[in-house]
Amino acid sequence: MSQPRRTTRDGEAVSARRREAQRHFPPAIGDSYDEARRLPLSHFVNRLEMLTFFGAFSAGKLTGFLAYVREDGLKIDHRAWIMSAYVSPAHRGTGAADALMQAALAQARADGVLQAELYVSSAAPRAQAFYARHSFERVGVAPRALRVNDMFHDEWHMIRRLDGDLTA
Ligand SMILES: CC(C)(COP(=O)(O)OP(=O)(O)OC[C@H]1O[C@@H](n2cnc3c(N)ncnc32)[C@H](O)[C@@H]1OP(=O)(O)O)[C@@H](O)C(=O)NCCC(=O)NCCS
Repeated sequence: MSQPRRTTRDGEAVSARRREAQRHFPPAIGDSYDEARRLPLSHFVNRLEMLTFFGAFSAGKLTGFLAYVREDGLKIDHRAWIMSAYVSPAHRGTGAADALMQAALAQARADGVLQAELYVSSAAPRAQAFYARHSFERVGVAPRALRVNDMFHDEWHMIRRLDGDLTA
């Protein structure tokens, strides 16, 4: 497994992995497989340009990714979002997800970001444990944030402070 790197030209691979995630883990992923498979490749190519995507690679193949996006605006640019975390099943528990998170947090620190934030489904305990291991704390819950086949799932709002000493 190579070190994660920014990925801007892997629209097709990201799109395929994203559909894999939507298909196999619908309560964990915010958008749906049926919607995503109708989207043109250009949608994913644009997404890679608009967000900062980090990719994990094994033997040259994309095995996982995680997106980072910093807020824009004087009052909110101390915040950044971690989104779209996904590692294919064969590469879980290998450190690939850790390396992706570390790459995103390093970028956040380099940007002067003070807190990294994310939403995670209440139906994704493995992802919750992963974020907790990376010192994200649950600060709130959005009730019924996702509806999958008429079942509601809450989303947890989790934050990791990067400056370490702010109290508010
Ligand atoms: C969320 C996700 C990216 C996390 O990746 P992961 O590899 O599954 O999670 P972790 O890195 O926490 O690894 C899981 C376990 O392997 C262990 N592990 C990680 N790296 C390891 C290594 N190099 N050597 C040995 N064990 C390792 C971890 O300690 C953890 O063990 P534990 O369960 O006993 O605590 C992945 O599960 C996933 O893609 N899930 C589906 C999509 C999803 O839910 N995305 C989140 C959307 S918000």
